[in-house]
Amino acid sequence: MAKKQKAKIKSLAVVTPGGDAPGMNTAIRAVVRTAIYYGIRVWGIEKGWYGLINGLVKEMGPKSVSGIINKGGTILHTRRTPEFRKKQCRKMAYNELRLRDIDGMVVIGGDGSMHSSYAFMQEFGIPVNVIPATIDNDIPGTDYTVGFDTAVNTAVEAMDKIRDTATSHERVFVIEVMGRHNGFIALDAGLASGAEAIIIPEVKYDLKNLAKMIKRGHERGKESFIIVVAEGCNAVNKTAKYLKDSLNIEVRVTNLGYVQRGGSPSAFSRELACKLGAAAVEVMLAGKCGYLVGALSDKVSLCPISKLINIKKKIDLDELRLANMLAT
Ligand code: F6P
Repeated sequence: MAKKQKAKIKSLAVVTPGGDAPGMNTAIRAVVRTAIYYGIRVWGIEKGWYGLINGLVKEMGPKSVSGIINKGGTILHTRRTPEFRKKQCRKMAYNELRLRDIDGMVVIGGDGSMHSSYAFMQEFGIPVNVIPATIDNDIPGTDYTVGFDTAVNTAVEAMDKIRDTATSHERVFVIEVMGRHNGFIALDAGLASGAEAIIIPEVKYDLKNLAKMIKRGHERGKESFIIVVAEGCNAVNKTAKYLKDSLNIEVRVTNLGYVQRGGSPSAFSRELACKLGAAAVEVMLAGKCGYLVGALSDKVSLCPISKLINIKKKIDLDELRLANMLAT
């Protein structure tokens, strides 16, 4: 339901529901400062949808976003809010917007936030634009999400360190990275760190072949192996056990976990957040709402959210082929 809205926007709110991602603060700053630049009142909704349901809404000014361009997390805080699935809670949230004469919303978040924004917009006709922000990069309609590049860099840095131990001890490491049901982090971080194998939910894996590859590597005198496993495969322990038992070698498991969600956003994540934050406001003021405001081929792009509902973003299998080819 992307549409041209008739009424002029005089006041808008910004919210970061769902998981935090590095660069969310940069996006909040861009939204707030763009709104103020155009003379629009801007409100920050604290603690995601929970805060909107419960009236945790405060007016923001240029100073309220000073010094946050480089800070991880979200200054608005967030909370998983399953109760937002209930119509009665969404009605309470809508009432809080009406109470303050808020005419539009910019939502900064992941796949779940995009879906709930769509339901909210459909139900109450409130203009919403969504900025894709999640470390998972699993949102269609944009090449990259805010936070993904930072998370990949964090994972690569960690894997470079693990490689030192792997090489010194001539060990195999099985490393779990985040990504929910998708392998975007695993694939990019695996390619960039020279991982010997990348296991992702999108592609069937074969432990026998993996063991053969390691055996061949040992015969060639290879000193270390890094196997990256996306969390969605739920396969780290199984993989480690299989390799240990079938090859009689030392295998260690590391879960990179929440370090991937935190930290100062990379220059790429910040630049993306600045561009998308400003665009989300500018297009709304130009009367366009119901869009995912993303980036395709390095340009800001608008995709109607209605076209993205229940669409799965495709992973680049050629990148996996490349990673495999270069690792052997
Ligand atoms: O969506 C970001 C993400 O970190 C996923 O990679 C992970 O599966 C999930 O969030 C963890 O969620 P929670 O913060 O609820 O533990």
